[in-house]
Amino acid sequence: MKKVTKAVIPVAGFGSRMLPATKAIPKEMLPIIDKPIIQYIVEECAKAGITDIVMVTHTSKKAIENHFSQAKELEDSLSNKGKDALLKIVQNTKPKGVNISYVQQGEAKGLGHAVLCGKDIVGDEPFVVILPDVLIDESSASGDLDNLSTMVTNFERSNVSQIMVELVADKDVSKFGIADIKGIKLNAGDSAPLTRVVEKPAFEDAPSNLAIVGRYIFSPSIWALLAETKAGVGGEIQLTDAMDELIKTETMHAYYMTGKSHDCGNKQGYAKAVIAYANKHPELKGEL
Ligand code: UTP
Repeated sequence: MKKVTKAVIPVAGFGSRMLPATKAIPKEMLPIIDKPIIQYIVEECAKAGITDIVMVTHTSKKAIENHFSQAKELEDSLSNKGKDALLKIVQNTKPKGVNISYVQQGEAKGLGHAVLCGKDIVGDEPFVVILPDVLIDESSASGDLDNLSTMVTNFERSNVSQIMVELVADKDVSKFGIADIKGIKLNAGDSAPLTRVVEKPAFEDAPSNLAIVGRYIFSPSIWALLAETKAGVGGEIQLTDAMDELIKTETMHAYYMTGKSHDCGNKQGYAKAVIAYANKHPELKGEL
């Protein structure tokens, strides 16, 4: 059994849909109340047993690295003032037992290219890819199914690459990559073989209402395919194009998530995420 312990998180994009907020602050550092988006993502990895995270980053995004590093002066100040609870929060931005390394993507050539930048650090092992602008809120789910952990367990049992999917409304189908699972009906937590991924189809042409929501586990075979992938839609090297090739040679599974995703990379999704998380924040719920 091959354990899944590594994750690649691409954070090198411009975040142009959230300008001017993202002119000097990385999109991934925008707060959802009092925690930056990227910290939720790193915590999600830790919960799923990931111990080594590779962030594919850019020189303009130093704030992400700072957030997960020690802040000696701030810690001393909080300690001297006896603010122990805050001190603990500041010391634990990076969960214990998780190692984060950084690799630069010199030029934002697309998501596929960004993931490929993690190859030398990850090596010949299966790995998770997380899109850091998508938050997965599992608290609204029935039961306590943990999506990423379940995907990791599924991979470790089957050695089959996985993508996470979520049911979206008819009107939203054309905004996402859509999974074709040949009409199989899934319940939350179930998986089915993926036969095709269709990028942003018109609703009439869509093979399902199952949108790909930014969580993947790949076998190392994806590396060679990514290296061969040419620029596609928008002139960018697309992860979906490499995935399409992978499906031709290896089985992949679509995992049907529980809970709700929030795409924080656009204004509406970000605003909805802030409201949802504020309403369950221990200091705020009931007050708003
Ligand atoms: P997005 O396309 O959502 O992010 O990519 P973006 O390019 O930053 O956003 P807009 O479109 O300009 O508003 C999903 C994730 O992939 C990363 C981004 O940082 C984002 O977290 N990414 C994208 C890279 O690391 N490198 C790239 O070349 C492209």
